[in-house]
Amino acid sequence: MTTDSGQKRIGIFDSGVGGLTVLTQLYQQLPNESILYFGDTARLPYGTRAASEIVHFVREIMTWLVEQDVKMVIMACNTSSALAMEMVQAEFDIPVLGVILPGAQAAVQQGKRIGVIATPATAASNAYRNAILEMDADCRVWQISCPAFVPLVEQNRIHDPYTYEVAREYLAPLIQQHIDTLIYGCTHYPLLAPVLGSLLPAGVKPIDPAVRVVAAAARELEVLGLRNSGAALPTRFCVSGPPQQFADLSVQWLGCTPAVEKIFLPTVVGSPVSLESVE
Ligand code: DGL
Repeated sequence: MTTDSGQKRIGIFDSGVGGLTVLTQLYQQLPNESILYFGDTARLPYGTRAASEIVHFVREIMTWLVEQDVKMVIMACNTSSALAMEMVQAEFDIPVLGVILPGAQAAVQQGKRIGVIATPATAASNAYRNAILEMDADCRVWQISCPAFVPLVEQNRIHDPYTYEVAREYLAPLIQQHIDTLIYGCTHYPLLAPVLGSLLPAGVKPIDPAVRVVAAAARELEVLGLRNSGAALPTRFCVSGPPQQFADLSVQWLGCTPAVEKIFLPTVVGSPVSLESVE
């Protein structure tokens, strides 16, 4: 039976379109759940920013999501999960899941020589390395910071020859170490799977943490009695930057043009008090 709380939306957020990889998993694994998606597109990329800035952005987004009355939050962003999870757990009284632990868990079940590609902030935090070694001290971990990937995805340059060139360079040291497992340590990276997959040796298994974080969310909703058994509402898409740009970019992964609202968070530069939207 669905409780009133069960009918509420699950809030998910990312700096941009990366969180769509988590949204797609939600559609597959939890088709009855209604979702509120937020992309902080006015301030992306997150991965080249200072930890204090990332924590501040996440606090602001979490505050807004709680105001929207969501029943759970999935941080569909590795950088936010790596840098701000502690703050979120200390300051917000709502179920929150991050992608790092589910991703690390999937990797240690898969292999022993684990490569991690991530944003500079996630790689520098060592969040994946620490989580993996805590789960299995016999694993070896190599982390590569990939600052060019998020801008290339957000500029819709996935099939640009330059993207292949950059990816080849990032993957080379991992391939040299004969990794058997590769964690996509940024939610934007599964969108680069056609590129990355073409460059990885056949024996390397890629891990998309989105698959596991959504499975974990399903279990948590069950335990808390928060599953929605009715039909899902259409996903609400909100961004802090230009809504049309997000709509145009995301259509290729969503299969339809989303209606996108612009949201004004308190410290996004140039935030007036009104709302604008695009259908
Ligand atoms: N997609 C996010 C992540 O998983 C953020 C990337 C960025 O904005 O740098 O890390």
